[in-house]
Amino acid sequence: MSWVRQPSEKLLAVKPAPEIGPVSIRMEQPSDAPQIRDLVEASFPGLGEALLVDRLRSDGDLVLSLVAEDGGVVVGYIAFSRINIEGAEAPFGAVALAPLAVYSDYQSQGVATQLVREGHACLAFLGETLSVVLGEPQYYGRFGYSNRRVAGFESEYQSPFLMGLSFGAAPWEGRLVYPPAFGALAEDAPLQAHD
Ligand SMILES: CC(C)(COP(=O)(O)OP(=O)(O)OC[C@H]1O[C@@H](n2cnc3c(N)ncnc32)[C@H](O)[C@@H]1OP(=O)(O)O)[C@@H](O)C(=O)NCCC(=O)NCCS
Repeated sequence: MSWVRQPSEKLLAVKPAPEIGPVSIRMEQPSDAPQIRDLVEASFPGLGEALLVDRLRSDGDLVLSLVAEDGGVVVGYIAFSRINIEGAEAPFGAVALAPLAVYSDYQSQGVATQLVREGHACLAFLGETLSVVLGEPQYYGRFGYSNRRVAGFESEYQSPFLMGLSFGAAPWEGRLVYPPAFGALAEDAPLQAHD
């Protein structure tokens, strides 16, 4: 008699979890565009976010975009685009984080966390000092984003979902001017988290 129990029929019938290899983070390459589009379309309702990425790219407004890759397949994506702060002082260039997406099979394994952290490190290296996001406070709070950091900015998105994180000296007041690509998205959902 064996002490090792044989797996039941029910257990054997359960679909095995997908095999997920080590995910690597790298800069977006031109050839990644179709895969990024598929991922972003799959991750958000409607086409707004996918069109946002296409337009940011074609307008030259992307400051940094990274992909998470598993065996040549893009499984995660993050973009930071140029956003200006206009006001009493000279215009100041900050970045807006949007969108952030990871395929469902790869979620809850820290892939988005790697993308955000790697993104912040690259931005700091590039001399950027302020990142702004319109998203879920419970999620972005874990990276240090807060509404307090951007509460002094004028913006049509001003709400608890608008948050900022600084890596260096940056203004606390002024008007946030998003790149034109965000215009179409705002018409769809003016005050919803969209990254
Ligand atoms: C949000 C998203 C990018 C997270 O990707 P991920 O690789 O699973 O993220 P991580 O593994 O780094 O972190 C997972 C954690 O984030 C939490 N989380 C995911 N989405 C969240 C949300 N909208 N609000 C609050 N927490 C959230 C998970 O519950 C999990 O919590 P835990 O660490 O306590 O278990 C992914 O779920 C996604 O692509 N969603 C669809 C697109 C989207 O909504 N993007 C914007 C999010 S505001």
